[in-house]
Amino acid sequence: MSYKIAPSILSADFANLQRDVEMINSSRADWFHVDVMDGVFVPNISLGLPVISAIKRHATKPLDVHLMIVQPERYIGDFKKAGADILTVHIEASPHLHRTIGAIKENDMLAGVALNPHTNVELLRDVLRDIDLVCIMSVNPGFGGQKFIENTYAKIKNLKQMADDIGKNLLIEIDGGVTLDNFNLLLDAGANVLVAGNTVFSSANPIDTIHKLKG
Ligand code: DX5
Ligand code: ZN
Repeated sequence: MSYKIAPSILSADFANLQRDVEMINSSRADWFHVDVMDGVFVPNISLGLPVISAIKRHATKPLDVHLMIVQPERYIGDFKKAGADILTVHIEASPHLHRTIGAIKENDMLAGVALNPHTNVELLRDVLRDIDLVCIMSVNPGFGGQKFIENTYAKIKNLKQMADDIGKNLLIEIDGGVTLDNFNLLLDAGANVLVAGNTVFSSANPIDTIHKLKG
């Protein structure tokens, strides 16, 4: 089964961002995972549009942009212009999720929906046909390097069953606490995109760690 690895730029060295972008370019990674935090939806502030534009100038792989912000619908065109290829919004921040998904697709990006650890995958049943990716948060969003939440496996299996029931080829992305010890279990449960921040960037040899995550 083929799957994607998306190193999370949140754990990169922001003073050497071009170096770290080029490291990912030259690795077996598939996407760049870029975390945008507003200090309101989550208790942390990370990076915004100018930094994404700068990453885009050097990146040779798609940018998977994860918005942890309130009212994400206000900025869809801006993230497209900055270089996002996949744009993911949180269900908890989107009262008009169906409309927001439509706007992402009208802007020629893949549409993703992220779920906090407490949010049941069932809530996606009525939009599953409309989206490309579901990001299952396996930590509470806001910070890199947190401990993986074990209930994630059950969520992956339930979501995979929902997708199979309608014959949909869904991207099932796991974000938070992915390690060399648990990545195979996540793939076995049905995940096909793995985000990895701390595991990649705190390792002695990030290129080799990405290689190992690719199996
Ligand atoms: C957390 C972010 C993650 C984070 C994952 O809020 O959405 O993408 O970078 O980091 P690790 O892999 O270190 O848990
Ligand atoms: Zn993320």
